[in-house]
Amino acid sequence: MRTDTGQIVHLADYRPTDFVLERVDLTFELDPAATRIETRLIFHRRDGVDFGQALVLDGDELTLAELRLDQNELPAGQFDVTPESLTIRGLPESVPFEVTIITIINPEANTQLMGLYRTNGVYCTQCEAEGFRRITYFPDRPDVLAPYTITIIADKAANPVLLSNGNFLGGGNYDEGRHFAAWFDPFPKPSYLFALVAGDLGVVEDTFTTMSEREVTLKIYVEHGKEARAAYAMDALKRSMKWDEERFGREYDLDIFMIVAVSDFNMGAMENKGLNVFNDKYVLADPETATDQDYANIEAIIAHEYFHNWTGNRITCRDWFQLCLKEGLTVYRDHEFSADMRSRAVKRIAEVRHLKAEQFPEDAGPLAHPVRPTSYREINNFYTTTVYEKGSEVTRMIATLLGRDTFKAGMDLYFERHDGEAATVEDFVACFAEVSGRDLTQFSRWYHQAGTPMVTASGAYDAASQSFTLSLEQMVPATPGQSVKEPMHIPLSFALILDNGSIAEPASVSGGEVSGDVLHLTERKQDFTFTGIAARPVLSLNRSFSAPINLDFKQAPADLAHIARHDSDLFARWQALTDLALPNLIQAARDAREGRAISCDDALVTALLEAAADETLEPAFRAQALALPSESDIARELGGNNDPDAIHAGRQGIIALIAKAGSSVFETLFATMARNGAFTPDAAGAGRRALRNSALSYLAYAEGGAQRAADAFASSDNMTDMTQALTVLAHRFPDDALTHEALDTFLQRFSDNALVLDKWFTIQATIPGDAALARIKALMDHPQFVGTNPNRVRSLIGSFAFSNPTGFNRADGEGYRFLAQQILAIDPRNPQLAARILTSMRSWRSLESLRADLARSALVEIQRSPKLSADVGDIVERMLKG
Ligand code: TRP
Ligand code: ZN
Repeated sequence: MRTDTGQIVHLADYRPTDFVLERVDLTFELDPAATRIETRLIFHRRDGVDFGQALVLDGDELTLAELRLDQNELPAGQFDVTPESLTIRGLPESVPFEVTIITIINPEANTQLMGLYRTNGVYCTQCEAEGFRRITYFPDRPDVLAPYTITIIADKAANPVLLSNGNFLGGGNYDEGRHFAAWFDPFPKPSYLFALVAGDLGVVEDTFTTMSEREVTLKIYVEHGKEARAAYAMDALKRSMKWDEERFGREYDLDIFMIVAVSDFNMGAMENKGLNVFNDKYVLADPETATDQDYANIEAIIAHEYFHNWTGNRITCRDWFQLCLKEGLTVYRDHEFSADMRSRAVKRIAEVRHLKAEQFPEDAGPLAHPVRPTSYREINNFYTTTVYEKGSEVTRMIATLLGRDTFKAGMDLYFERHDGEAATVEDFVACFAEVSGRDLTQFSRWYHQAGTPMVTASGAYDAASQSFTLSLEQMVPATPGQSVKEPMHIPLSFALILDNGSIAEPASVSGGEVSGDVLHLTERKQDFTFTGIAARPVLSLNRSFSAPINLDFKQAPADLAHIARHDSDLFARWQALTDLALPNLIQAARDAREGRAISCDDALVTALLEAAADETLEPAFRAQALALPSESDIARELGGNNDPDAIHAGRQGIIALIAKAGSSVFETLFATMARNGAFTPDAAGAGRRALRNSALSYLAYAEGGAQRAADAFASSDNMTDMTQALTVLAHRFPDDALTHEALDTFLQRFSDNALVLDKWFTIQATIPGDAALARIKALMDHPQFVGTNPNRVRSLIGSFAFSNPTGFNRADGEGYRFLAQQILAIDPRNPQLAARILTSMRSWRSLESLRADLARSALVEIQRSPKLSADVGDIVERMLKG
């Protein structure tokens, strides 16, 4: 393990390498415990670099076996080597030179899952961000691009499949029992995109004909016996390839595109050139074992990694500060893809729910950082929801400001101008400024200023002048390292909705720029006046969530109900229902804390039930309408001094009231949304299941609720219905015999399916209440709990910490102490995983003071540990600072 060196990397220190890498030639002799790697690198000195300059290569836990310069062994005085670096002096002045390095590594002992490791007998690599240096000494940074030739030699019986990036060159038998394969990737790439996979795997094959009529071979590798479960991923891949051609004009470039599914993986998936490696959770699916959410995730992540081929691989990042250049942009592209494949409005609602649940808390807490940070201690910790999701929102705002066609022109220019390069955020933004003629300097603050802007709005209608004035004020909160903020350029989509539901067309607008239905808030305070408005309108603001802001707009319940009923933007209708619900949920939390009875506005109940029963709306939307803001949404809205028990009790109280008032609506929905015909995983089928299961969750509040959920569980014939019914049972009736019976049935039936068992652990890990901790501890002793598998650890410990607010935030602080122990236990094996789970405590300062003190003690306990990884050390330090 690389322990914390405390070294900070600064964007301002960027400079190009002294030596230019021309090509890379790697030969792997695979062995579980002693893999030998011969690395041949051809460099030349960059123009203008001093002759005396040494070549410095990165390493991580490496041992050097041999070193040659232009085929000659180097005398001891000409180089220095440590596990972390290799320095070579006395290099030729003006001609290219070849460095040959031999390293020996132990893939089996690699528990960090970075570099070359083994998972279920399969050799596999993960090199982003800095894993390549765990394979060989190398200039391991994203601005060093070269073509790679790879030779893999391995035992033939154990490893019939030998894969790497690029096109297949050839292969054959080697020596006793061994064979080899050679691959060549002609597209210059940085080391983080290198990949190698070897083992005994099953494969699903298909082809795709590109827009210029080239036939590309598609292969998805999975464990033997799981081939049928890769069919949906293959279909999603072909749709992604087609979509990127049609929407962005991007064609695939190699003869073959491969995906490998592995069961031990730190994140979702990795976009290695021509050889994506996936967490098998995002590849494998069939109706019996995958939920609708699983299908949607597979579609999105397959698309995401494929889209990286252009946004990330063909154009990569100059340095890791530019991470959002590939991640934010690629998330934007996968969002657009999913929106086109499914319902755009429902997709937008899901995106915003996710953004608010994950990114807003990050931006409001001690881990807040700009989309484009300026310093880091551990780059692994910057694969954040801010870089990904807020980065995507920033790209989306550029598209909103420029309009679809100009945005497309900017993307075309970006692809044309920077193909084959390692680019920066400035390069990207310059393309849009150029094609639009717009000055994007102020807009660029979205990349540089952390914190979610708060926009305060108020509207006034003047009947005499038939005008409507909208007063806006913006404020960007202080964040770590940034106390003073400048005003942002905020694009706000709006509509003035009249009594009959139609949208007013103003005769004129003054006070600032308005393009189409988007007004540009650019100053700290700005008033927009619309004339020619015949009667008092209802303002719908930030429609489709055109900007990732917090909006403080005190609208009357009647106005919100009007938007919920009439806005032509479905997202805005959902937003209005949320805005109606939140004050009720907040009041309910206060009432619960004070021991008062819980009540709920009729306007909310009426609006929710009306949306739920409205057959002109798609079922998936109606399900979203019925899903009240979560407990963490309420906590975020409260903003401080939070008591998770009160929030939970209040929310439960409101749900019970809605359940009672809407029982006949829910009965009808449960009956009419039942499936007739064959199961399909598409958006329409998923929407009906979502609405029916939402009805079930309300029906479980009535007399006989447990039996009802148990019956739904018993009669379910797909994983969505099954897990939804089991969740209702376990969460509402944790101690009921019916729950134990259903959990046992589920376990017996799926005991050989790891991905389904993850769900079994998660459902139990998220049962609310004080009993949760004992349940988690018992589950850790379950024979099926595999502490070395990241998915399993996340499904139990991660779910508890991230998604069980009452259980985790027990008033006695035992949840925090438990987490601290787990972090310290996971850290030595897998620092990335430990650091990620620890971020579940990022909002600890908004807890009420007793819990906050206990949370702080747990963090201090972690910090005091003598041997923290850089990953955990960095997170815990930032969480405690200030
Ligand atoms: N680049 C990958 C993606 O977003 C994610 C990634 C970064 C990753 N670092 C990783 C995946 C480490 C696994 C392990 O698509
Ligand atoms: Zn990505």
